[in-house]
Amino acid sequence: MKTDIRLTEADLARQLRADALHGLTSDPKWLPPKWFYDATGSKLFERITELEEYYPTRAERAILVERASEIARITGAKTLVELGSGSSEKTRLLLDALHGHGTLARFVPLDVSESALREAAHAIDDEYPGIDVHAIVGDFTSHLDGIPAGDGRMVAFLGGTIGNLMPAERAEFFARLRAVLHHGEWLLLGTDLVKDRATLIDAYDDAAGVTAEFNRNVLRVLNRELDADFPVDEFDHVAVWDDVNEWIEMRLRATRDMAVRVRALGLDLTFARGEQMRTEISAKFRREGVQEELEQAGFAVSEWWTDRESRFALTLATAT
Ligand code: AVJ
Repeated sequence: MKTDIRLTEADLARQLRADALHGLTSDPKWLPPKWFYDATGSKLFERITELEEYYPTRAERAILVERASEIARITGAKTLVELGSGSSEKTRLLLDALHGHGTLARFVPLDVSESALREAAHAIDDEYPGIDVHAIVGDFTSHLDGIPAGDGRMVAFLGGTIGNLMPAERAEFFARLRAVLHHGEWLLLGTDLVKDRATLIDAYDDAAGVTAEFNRNVLRVLNRELDADFPVDEFDHVAVWDDVNEWIEMRLRATRDMAVRVRALGLDLTFARGEQMRTEISAKFRREGVQEELEQAGFAVSEWWTDRESRFALTLATAT
């Protein structure tokens, strides 16, 4: 097994400082969702995926269970690249199908978390003898050029994480991805779909408060990494459905006037009671929109699959 490090702890520390400085001095304040996922945040996200209200993970898994062998047959992929692979649990469905089809030679997981990546990659390396595992510590927005050269590659970007990017960032991401692929190679994209407001809000504001803890955890990350003093429990979790942009916005709302110091940045902030800071967008999609964005970037949609309740979609697209 090979591991390429394209992104070091020092790079991440620098990026966190830059992001925090930019977002916290903007009006309104905001933070990128990337910083939710320290060890605690990753565990909280795992718990979110097990919640009754959070349907995307189950819906996507159901599509993969139903379609994995078709994906293997259509693509005949020799290399599976997985972006933001995390624990790689759903990946096994794809690996099994591609392996069973007899074409798979290599697995390339790419993730920002070196520890999570090593753990997942080692497990897969052990379970699939004969498959070359080439892990990349990197960021799916900056390190796509680290994907090893080859042909017959399929890039899987699952979970609906594409929805965390702003539309302009998505366009840039798809274009960059297209630039590293050859004609005829594949993208397998998971997107959450537009649906009724109540279902969406419940998925991002669960009754047990796990999503609220996940949201507030970003403040714990700033307190620890940047020597800040956010009074974490004095922020309320807010989930809003923006029906113009068709995205969920997560925010943290200050429950009182407060002063916050971010020592590592030499930054003194104030929050007014009721002030809201955006911590994530999670865009929801429609078939036409996904198709248009992909075509714009030089992909052609080959298949569009949804779960039975049309809550989530997997798109299989080819580089044209
Ligand atoms: C991991 C980015 C797909 O947007 O649904 C879950 C993260 N945020 N609950 C999503 C998340 C709040 C999740 N993604």
